[in-house]
Amino acid sequence: MSTELDGRHALVTGAGRGIGLAIAHALADRGARLTLAARSTDALEAARRACLERGSPLVNTVSVNLTDRRALENLARRGATQVDILVNNAGAAPSSPVERTDDLLWDGTMALNAFAPFALCRAALPTMVERGWGRIVNVASTAGLAGYAYTAAYCASKHALVGVTRALGAEIDARWKHADVTVNAVCPGFVDTDIVQAAAERIAQLTGGDVAGARERLAAMNPGGRLLTPEDVAAAVARLVCEDPGDSQGVALELDGTGD
Ligand SMILES: NC(=O)c1ccc[n+]([C@@H]2O[C@H](COP(=O)([O-])OP(=O)(O)OC[C@H]3O[C@@H](n4cnc5c(N)ncnc54)[C@H](OP(=O)(O)O)[C@@H]3O)[C@@H](O)[C@H]2O)c1
Repeated sequence: MSTELDGRHALVTGAGRGIGLAIAHALADRGARLTLAARSTDALEAARRACLERGSPLVNTVSVNLTDRRALENLARRGATQVDILVNNAGAAPSSPVERTDDLLWDGTMALNAFAPFALCRAALPTMVERGWGRIVNVASTAGLAGYAYTAAYCASKHALVGVTRALGAEIDARWKHADVTVNAVCPGFVDTDIVQAAAERIAQLTGGDVAGARERLAAMNPGGRLLTPEDVAAAVARLVCEDPGDSQGVALELDGTGD
């Protein structure tokens, strides 16, 4: 077991399953204390136990709906200000044609994928700077770098998250160059989680094809020709957290399955 993150405390949102769970595992493997956030208490409890088994000395869970402004404020004030590492991973990827992308879908997607990460960054940054060390990693998407059909709200929210990452990186450079604090984003292509499974099922239903074929088509859209694993993304996040920052400030790191 590595102790690289011994004494560091990390908050990971969306840590109950998928990419967030793999990130929690990767940080637990390196000895970090953890606060895991999501809505489902059962999934969080299972994640908590797994992280303790993997070597995290202390794991707390917070059941929170990040689209609820008061609950988010509470997590920002009581959770984000306490941590050395913040991983904004929770997100949802609704799809719908433009004429059916109503205000509710737009607002909900922007609230979860863009505003919640920003609010947690806003709360976490000043104390990280004060303590002289901090790492923020935002889990964006290739949908934050390019446009995909039927996903205007999702693409807009991930472009916003990439924008927030770049702007905060520039602000740290301008104001707090002395502090060892970084804000970066990872931008994965299609990853083998519930989000991709749901997308494949939707495509199969709409086209009358089978789910396996739809998964293959999604995998083929990644330049590497395969679905990424949650562990691929977690490894990239762990690198941004653990390694000497070098030029990694405000960077949106594309993970396309070719050489990650
Ligand atoms: N899978 C992909 O192909 C892919 C590609 C690029 C980027 N991403 C991004 O990676 C991140 C994780 O995706 P994933 O594929 O691992 O998705 P996932 O398996 O659906 O997991 C999403 C996580 O976010 C939590 N969450 C969802 N809505 C929430 C809310 N309102 N409040 C609090 N927590 C909430 C979920 O837990 P609860 O439901 O219990 O709340 C869950 O833990 C997302 O930001 C996604 O956009 C995914």
